[in-house]
Amino acid sequence: MHESGEGLLSHFTCKDLALRNRVMISPMAQYCATDGYANDYHLVHLGKYAIGGAGLIMLEATAVEARGRTTPFDLGLWRDEHVESLRRITEFNRSQGAATGVQLAHAGRKGNQPYPWDGPGPAITPDVNGYPIAPSAIPFTPECSIPQEMGKKEIKETLAAWKAAARRAVQAGFDVIEIHGAHGYLLHQFMSSKSNLRVDEYGGGFDNRIRYLLEVADAVRTEWPEDKPLFYRTSVVDPSDEQWTIDESVRLASRLAEHGVDLIDCSYGGLAKRATTNMGTRNQGFLVPCSGTIRRGANIRTAAVGLILDPDFADGVIRKGDADLIATGREALYNPHWVLHAYQELGKGGFSDWPDQYGWWLQSRAKHPVIR
Ligand SMILES: Cc1cc2nc3c(=O)[nH]c(=O)nc-3n(C[C@H](O)[C@H](O)[C@H](O)COP(=O)(O)O)c2cc1C
Repeated sequence: MHESGEGLLSHFTCKDLALRNRVMISPMAQYCATDGYANDYHLVHLGKYAIGGAGLIMLEATAVEARGRTTPFDLGLWRDEHVESLRRITEFNRSQGAATGVQLAHAGRKGNQPYPWDGPGPAITPDVNGYPIAPSAIPFTPECSIPQEMGKKEIKETLAAWKAAARRAVQAGFDVIEIHGAHGYLLHQFMSSKSNLRVDEYGGGFDNRIRYLLEVADAVRTEWPEDKPLFYRTSVVDPSDEQWTIDESVRLASRLAEHGVDLIDCSYGGLAKRATTNMGTRNQGFLVPCSGTIRRGANIRTAAVGLILDPDFADGVIRKGDADLIATGREALYNPHWVLHAYQELGKGGFSDWPDQYGWWLQSRAKHPVIR
């Protein structure tokens, strides 16, 4: 872990990964893949963050099996043929000095939904993605399909899918895998006693409810090389499950570390509602204290996310030792050059950190502001 005092723009290393700074673009689903395949939109969308100076760019939730998609438009890694379209992205980002991660995901009962921008609506027909599965047959909302409770067969099938997706992630050239265990998706559904009413070894007490999570980490680790970092995103707290507290998250983080996880990406909510964080009612960095608690309590690296808007604030989070990485979502959508501005604001240089293609021109514009 980093020494306290190193800031946002210091290098980050973890196993064989070396990042130029501590900014991670948070995974953000774009809902524009066809049959799981990435296309030019994904290359341009993600590539602009590489040009914009980010250290690590995390791909959106990428389904490990077709029925694990939130919508039919999610990215996927359930076929060998998906690899090539993703390799274009990892190669481009690397050429610009950025590392790329893939967030492997399974939606569980949150599968089978329409475009989010169409608002809440009825579930799409079950056979589009395959029928949603979940630890228990409890729907996410009344509009969503009632999921099929997973038997031993589905548990085995899905573990094989996580494993195969990890193998394809290696082939696609990713630097990091992040397991999506947050926001009410399949792993969160297992973890919470609100969505997991099972009476077998996967339900009941804490150890049983996290069993599937650890099995997923093990399955991914069988294919994901030891020297590559494995991240895990979890909802450290969720307003719809008050029984799951930050203490449970610290315990979970320690257990995940024993199963090969190197960093906990500390997110929030989503079990019974959308996970989006409301700009109006929350403070900048409202999850940072949770990240600090997990980092110190489980002695593991963390990423902090959630309304982190100002480079100065982000720099302070890293310097105080509350996180190892800062994940930025909506602020990066708004300003893809957030990191390059951070270099200027934090006094790390003029335009020398910008890509040459932009920097030489901006330098001359700064000297001669009338040039258009
Ligand atoms: C458009 C959009 C799509 C998102 N998709 C994902 C996703 O695929 N996986 C995930 O873990 N979080 C997803 N999130 C949550 C973000 O990664 C992030 O945790 C959240 O927006 C809070 O960070 P922010 O305040 O910097 O935006 C998404 C957020 C947005 C705005």
